[in-house]
Amino acid sequence: MTVTAAVGLGSNLSDRRHHLAAAIAALAENVGRVAAVSSVYETAPVGGPEQGDYLNAVALVETDLDPELVLEALLGIERLMGRERRERWGPRIIDLDLLLYGDRAVDRSGLTVPHPRMAQRHFVLAPLAEVWPHPVLPDGTVLDDALAATADQEVRRLGTLGGAAPYGGPQRTRRVMAGEVLDNVVVVDHPLVQHKLSLMRRKDTPTAEFRRLLREISALLGYEVTRDLPLSLVPIETPLAAMDAPMIEGIKPVIVSILRAGGGILEGMLDVLPAARVGHIGLYRDHETLEAIEYYFKMPDRVEDRMVIAVDPMLATGHSAVAAVNRIKARQPKEIRFVCLLAAPEGIAEFHRHHPDVAIWTAAIDSHLNDKGYIVPGLGDAGDRIFGTK
Ligand code: URA
Repeated sequence: MTVTAAVGLGSNLSDRRHHLAAAIAALAENVGRVAAVSSVYETAPVGGPEQGDYLNAVALVETDLDPELVLEALLGIERLMGRERRERWGPRIIDLDLLLYGDRAVDRSGLTVPHPRMAQRHFVLAPLAEVWPHPVLPDGTVLDDALAATADQEVRRLGTLGGAAPYGGPQRTRRVMAGEVLDNVVVVDHPLVQHKLSLMRRKDTPTAEFRRLLREISALLGYEVTRDLPLSLVPIETPLAAMDAPMIEGIKPVIVSILRAGGGILEGMLDVLPAARVGHIGLYRDHETLEAIEYYFKMPDRVEDRMVIAVDPMLATGHSAVAAVNRIKARQPKEIRFVCLLAAPEGIAEFHRHHPDVAIWTAAIDSHLNDKGYIVPGLGDAGDRIFGTK
């Protein structure tokens, strides 16, 4: 019988968001379908030695495993992700707790569900309340009452987890965990994106349709790459009442188009981020060496206060992307993300060898590069297909 389990996640070491996303991917692989993931919350550590703040979230997993096997799987994921249990309440790469197992109360050696301390922890209750569908927990705790009783504990809602879908689970948008090379890569495998990409790959797709499809896909990629932008509440008035409404925090991001093919992605991104600033980097590939040569560079002001989204349809050898991000990093933006339509494993490896901190969003990872540096099966020369120059 399938039961919905609630799993609490926490991390307070190195790339905390990434550890949460990785654990969610591992839950999907080892425990069951991830039906929902809450927002991410930042909280000060409770007890233990001096240590950094935690990121916390709750995932709902539909599982056929018994609660003991779920617990075993959680401990296994913690071990695989490198958690060392050195001291109680000490800092950790990942902490996974089985909070709830359907409507059942379990009390057997080593396993108590509902989790015995969850009702005292706002950092568990706040994300849980976003996703758990029932107001009363199996041990009789009323979720709203427990939330109110712990409301003095400070937690900060940071928005959704980049790369893992906040609702509906990470099946469609996943942070790929299959191997070292694919670490920190989000494959946007939404059916609309995949369908449009297949149409674009066809060699007889005409230029006008290719361009239109690229614009549509780019808007969808833009939607995914901005999924976790932080929100804050701003007072507004509707025709009926005053309310505090969520608005994106901070100043506008910059989309940096890597010329010339980046222009194709830029248009679609601007459809969903119409107020974004735009930068350009002109690079061409030396056809002999496949190296990237720069011929143009123009960025908006205050880059240091902005997130930069660098765009180029094809991450092939990775040389242009590496060179572009080198130039962007010199301006010290708050964060850089890279968006492409297609990536080759070789390009991802080269890019992350130079820029492991820059996450990649792509619609697909293809098989390999051919000896001319083209992605196979790919879609041919993206620039030529966008601009009809062949
Ligand atoms: N650039 C392209 O346009 N296509 C490829 O396959 C590789 C790089």
